[in-house]
Amino acid sequence: MTVVLKLGGSVITEKDRPETLDGAALDRAADAIAEARSAGDVTDLVLVHGGGSFGHHHASEHGVSTTSGSHDVDAVHAIHGAMTTLDRFVLDRLVERDVPAVPIHPLSTASRRADGTLTFPTGQVETLVGEGFVPVLHGDLVAHETEGVTVLSGDELVVELARALAAERVGLCSAVPGVLDEDGTVVERIDSYDAVASALGESDATDVSGGMAGKVRSLLELESSASIVGLSDLRAFLAGERPGTTIE
Ligand code: IPE
Repeated sequence: MTVVLKLGGSVITEKDRPETLDGAALDRAADAIAEARSAGDVTDLVLVHGGGSFGHHHASEHGVSTTSGSHDVDAVHAIHGAMTTLDRFVLDRLVERDVPAVPIHPLSTASRRADGTLTFPTGQVETLVGEGFVPVLHGDLVAHETEGVTVLSGDELVVELARALAAERVGLCSAVPGVLDEDGTVVERIDSYDAVASALGESDATDVSGGMAGKVRSLLELESSASIVGLSDLRAFLAGERPGTTIE
C-alpha cells in the first residue's frame, strides 16, 4: 500500500522566523515515520515537505509565487538553496532513524507550461519506492514557460504523486489538527466542497498556494482517501487510523 505524506512547512519550521527549523517538531515527525515503518504499518512511503520559513521567506523577498515568476538567477539560488538546506535537515533526521530517505529536487525534473499545466515525471519516485527507499520531495521552484521560475507547492506535488502512484492513502500533516469549522472544531469528514465552503472562508477559496480551501479542493479530486492531521495524530494516521479530517 502506497502512502503519500506531506509534512507542512508550518509544522517543521518556525514560520515567522526566517530559516528557522522547528527541530523538536521535525524529530516528532521523524519518530512517527520511523516507528510506523519498523512496525510494518507502512511499507511504500513517499514524503513531501513544505517550505515554511525557508522557502516562503525567500520567495516573498524575491516576489516569486506560484503564478508570478522571476528570471533572476540570484532568486533561484536563494529560494531553491533555502529549500535544499531544509531538505538536508529532514533527510538527516530520517536517516538517523534508519529511514532510507532519498532526495528528489523537483526543480531538476518538473516544468510548467504557460497555461499552468505541470509536467512532473514520477518514474524515479516509483522505482525508488520499489527498491525499498523513501523518496523525499519538497516544495520548490519550477521552470515555468514565460514566467522564468515560479513556486511549485508541496501540496501540488502531493496531488501529482498520489495520482501517478495510485496511492491508497494521502496525508497532510499540518499545524492544525484538521479542517476546523466556524467553532474551531475538527470536521471529521468532507465529501463535498460546498458543505465546508463557509467554514473555509471566501478569501481562502482563491488561495492557490496551499491555504486550507485549496488543499480541500484538490484532495477532493483524488481517487484516494486523504487526511489532514496534526503532528500528534501523525503516528495514528500512519497506523491506518483516520484521525483529523478525512477527505474523500
Ligand atoms: C513552498 O512549498 C516552497 C517554496 C516556497 C519554494 P509549500 O507551499 O508546500 O510549503 P508550506 O507547507 O506551505 O510551508
